Amino acid sequence: MKLPSMTRRDFVRLGAGAVAAGAAVKATLLEPPVLAAQTATGGTSGRTIRFVSIGTGIRGCDLLRAARQVPTGVCVGTADLYDMHQQAGKEAWGGEIPTTRDYRALLDRKDVDAVIVAVPDHQHRRVVLDAVAAGKDVYCEKPMSHNVADGLAMVEAVEAGKRIFQAGSQRVSNIVYKKAAEIYASGRLGEVHLIEGHSDRNSPSGAWVYPIPPDASPQTIDWVTFLRDAPPRPFDPVRFFRWRCFADYGEGVAGDLYVHLLSGIQCVTGINAIPNRAYSTGSLTHFKDGRDYPDLLATLYDYPGVTVNLHCNQNNEAGEPIIFYGSEATMVINGNNLSITPQDTSPKPEGYALDGWAAAPKQLYLDEWHAAHPAPAPKLAEVETYTAPQGYNDTADHIANFFRAIETREHVVEDEVFGNHAAIACHQANYSYFHRTVATWDAGTKTIKG
Ligand SMILES: NC(=O)c1ccc[n+]([C@@H]2O[C@H](COP(=O)([O-])OP(=O)(O)OC[C@H]3O[C@@H](n4cnc5c(N)ncnc54)[C@H](O)[C@@H]3O)[C@@H](O)[C@H]2O)c1
Repeated sequence: MKLPSMTRRDFVRLGAGAVAAGAAVKATLLEPPVLAAQTATGGTSGRTIRFVSIGTGIRGCDLLRAARQVPTGVCVGTADLYDMHQQAGKEAWGGEIPTTRDYRALLDRKDVDAVIVAVPDHQHRRVVLDAVAAGKDVYCEKPMSHNVADGLAMVEAVEAGKRIFQAGSQRVSNIVYKKAAEIYASGRLGEVHLIEGHSDRNSPSGAWVYPIPPDASPQTIDWVTFLRDAPPRPFDPVRFFRWRCFADYGEGVAGDLYVHLLSGIQCVTGINAIPNRAYSTGSLTHFKDGRDYPDLLATLYDYPGVTVNLHCNQNNEAGEPIIFYGSEATMVINGNNLSITPQDTSPKPEGYALDGWAAAPKQLYLDEWHAAHPAPAPKLAEVETYTAPQGYNDTADHIANFFRAIETREHVVEDEVFGNHAAIACHQANYSYFHRTVATWDAGTKTIKG
């Protein structure tokens, strides 16, 4: 069966579950794991992981809501520097829990197994190192590090302390990505030498122009502690709430969005490595509000054996697909949807040059060509789609995987090395953009070089 050809734009627009008219489609609804069965003993050991959450802003609250779906863990305390976020954290968990501004009080508690870290990126290193020193296992939000040195220090501490560490790029636990990894490993895509991904949003919210709550003040926010490990400056709520825009605390679109694409690509391909080279370009054209980072960033990466082409555009709503271009099939992940569309790899007579041939030699050529090339059976007969069920929450799966590893002491899906590799690739993208040079990784000095 000859399949209709599909352009890249069709893929991006349609994603999985909707493919070009006329194509035969085999659609599969994926089955999520049962969260209660995530413990080593199938949920019957009776052990409940007691965890505390440090940072209960946007993501900290999301994590607490997701953790409520995981019956193998219980939140026993939270910490946050902002009073209103402390209340939001309690509401997200849905019950009275002790809360404090000083997270060290939580780390001192002997009844705490694990720590979820959802503070801004410049604080990851300090909080993770303190948690590891206190003997806790750690789930740390993505991107793992604010800079290369922070990531290396965290890897060293986690390994020396023999702690379980999960980096918080939840796509790595997503059932759609797991299916994509299985298909990639099977070789059904043929040779894959190019992967493209983007994360595009076209709204102030997508560009982190978050509202400043009316009660934000030096009384309700511990600004001094927020600034720890960052240059001193007077109280500035814009920096506190929109920290992603500023190089003192965040890494712009690379640290916020590339990291999801890169972690997803690492997960699907099994490439757990730092890119040899990265080259970025981009611009700041729309959100000129005093931020340090561009609102358009495009980067070409050299990974072992594969070129990765990413961009983030905060001026266009083109979604977040990742496209794997194989010699036998193209695979697209778009949200919780996956599609695999076979290439028509059957041999064909050269057609273009024949436009300039006279009828008789043309017919002779075609007759001889077809006699020499009997049509082979198609390798992939139909478009396949895989979809996660409505309401599927990969963050709950990611947390469940972390809790399970705490009990079994087996590896998590996204350990400190994996998380560090994805974060370093983000730092390479920014290094290249700001230094206007190709950013290489120097394995000897463990630094990015121009
Ligand atoms: N995995 C994802 O999809 C995802 C989504 C959003 C954010 N994130 C990550 O989560 C982290 C937090 O992001 P956010 O959007 O929630 O930011 P946020 O600004 O909404 O919340 C951060 C909170 O951390 C608190 N905080 C800062 N320093 C602290 C300290 N030393 N002790 C206690 N609390 C402290 C702040 O008061 C604030 O309430 C970041 O690393 C971010 O990149 C991940």
